[in-house]
Amino acid sequence: MALLDKHAILERNATLLLAGSFLVVTIGGIVEIAPLFYLENTIEKVEGMRPYSPLELAGRKIYIREGCYTCHSQMIRPFRDEVERYGHYSLAAESMYDHPFQWGSKRTGPDLSRVGDRYSNEWHVQHLIEPRSVVPESIMPSYAFLKDTPLAVKEFETHLVANVRVGVPYTEDMLANARADLLAQADPNADTSGLEERYPKAKLGDFDGNPAALTEMDALIAYLQMLGTLVDFSTYDEAAGYR
Ligand code: HEC
Repeated sequence: MALLDKHAILERNATLLLAGSFLVVTIGGIVEIAPLFYLENTIEKVEGMRPYSPLELAGRKIYIREGCYTCHSQMIRPFRDEVERYGHYSLAAESMYDHPFQWGSKRTGPDLSRVGDRYSNEWHVQHLIEPRSVVPESIMPSYAFLKDTPLAVKEFETHLVANVRVGVPYTEDMLANARADLLAQADPNADTSGLEERYPKAKLGDFDGNPAALTEMDALIAYLQMLGTLVDFSTYDEAAGYR
């Protein structure tokens, strides 16, 4: 009863209640936020993660421009139904180079964080041109124009530099070769040894079925095909981080 009486004093005095709430929120905030300043890195390092290759980054830009995130998430939650449908739940490290991240909160279509390698390039081309030609009940819009839109490579280096400014560890070597790497990744006849060294597991070759032109479709499919393929989950140990 005594406690209730005291609470009544708080509840009947707006200023006191405000001061009390402020105190509680401050303590809660300090407990939650302060430790983050003393950790070297709050994201566990995971083997296999690397910055996006220039072509993947260009594709990612188109993904954002076209608003794919309004219907697709890139975040598999650690629940059994999600893991059975989409694969291993997303690790924080898997989006550590994403600026902005694409976790999303709306799933009109399926989660795409592990869509890489799930379909062939031809399937993606067909699906992006006319989704209903491969999935009859699909409500996804057509993005056929991407196949006829040349990829603008002009401002490319600056896009990498912008990522460096927000902490993505692109090296001098990567920046110097950005343009060459962008062109080489979608060119079946190019020498890709440097590219493969800089960006392990990058998918190579012609993506849109038209080797004569570098289009926005090439870039978008290069991006889709690498999603979720960098970390090797056969050697990833949840408890230890790595075996
Ligand atoms: C209006 C909502 C909507 C938008 C916008 C949208 N999608 Fe979809 N997407 C869907 C739906 C619904 C499906 C499931 C049916 C299908 O496969 O077409 C789907 C399926 C997919 C799949 C196949 C996934 C799987 O695991 O089978 C891919 C890949 C995909 N979308 C990529 C994209 C890309 C890239 C964009 C942007 C250029 C985009 N989507 C924009 C609704 C959307």
